[in-house]
Amino acid sequence: MNQENHLQGRTIIDKEVSWDKTQVIMSKTNAFGIIEYANEVFIDVCGYEDYELMGQPHNIIRHPDMPKVIFKVLWENLKAGKNFHAVVKNLAKSGRYYWVITDFEIAKDENGVIVNYFGRRQAVPQEVIAMHIEPLYKKLLQIEGAGGVEFSEKYLIGFLEEKKRSYVEYIKELILEHEKSQSKFSHPEEEDERGFFSRLFNK
Ligand SMILES: Cc1cc2nc3c(=O)[nH]c(=O)nc-3n(C[C@H](O)[C@H](O)[C@H](O)COP(=O)(O)O)c2cc1C
Repeated sequence: MNQENHLQGRTIIDKEVSWDKTQVIMSKTNAFGIIEYANEVFIDVCGYEDYELMGQPHNIIRHPDMPKVIFKVLWENLKAGKNFHAVVKNLAKSGRYYWVITDFEIAKDENGVIVNYFGRRQAVPQEVIAMHIEPLYKKLLQIEGAGGVEFSEKYLIGFLEEKKRSYVEYIKELILEHEKSQSKFSHPEEEDERGFFSRLFNK
């Protein structure tokens, strides 16, 4: 089986980056998503040097398997000053991939104008990706290919309506259900969204 292919000059390899999944991958951008800082874990995992990342748009690590609609919803929330969480497949310099869940933070100046965004990323359990996220994202990508982002967005809305969840609630629930099945943590009955993500990102 050919596991390597090329897209716009980039090599895509269907293999995961091996990385220490207890670590947090962090970056900071300006208001336009231009990278201003990345921690050592970020550098190690994506395989770029600092000088190759600083000043570059964050889509430098965008993976072609990611549906556009996820980033559309992400940016709509961030620009509206709302925190967001997203499950993202990223592309390392080597062509390998790594899946993460990202917690965003928005920094504003004294006039309330957004000046920076911070992204903190953690690993996502493989089962959650394989059973839920990958099938959904594949479908969204296919719809985008055929009918454009307008229709992948409509599909995503319908999918979430059926589940009676927002995107963030849905991914939270997937991870929580997985934790429970592993009985890794004892869960307070009434853990709200903020509590869940604070625990996940040790905030
Ligand atoms: C703080 C921050 C972190 C981001 N992290 C990622 C990331 O890890 N991977 C990614 O593909 N896009 C990330 N993005 C979104 C990119 O800016 C971009 O929207 C996305 O890669 C899609 O590319 P496009 O907007 O050119 O279609 C991040 C944006 C911000 C503001």
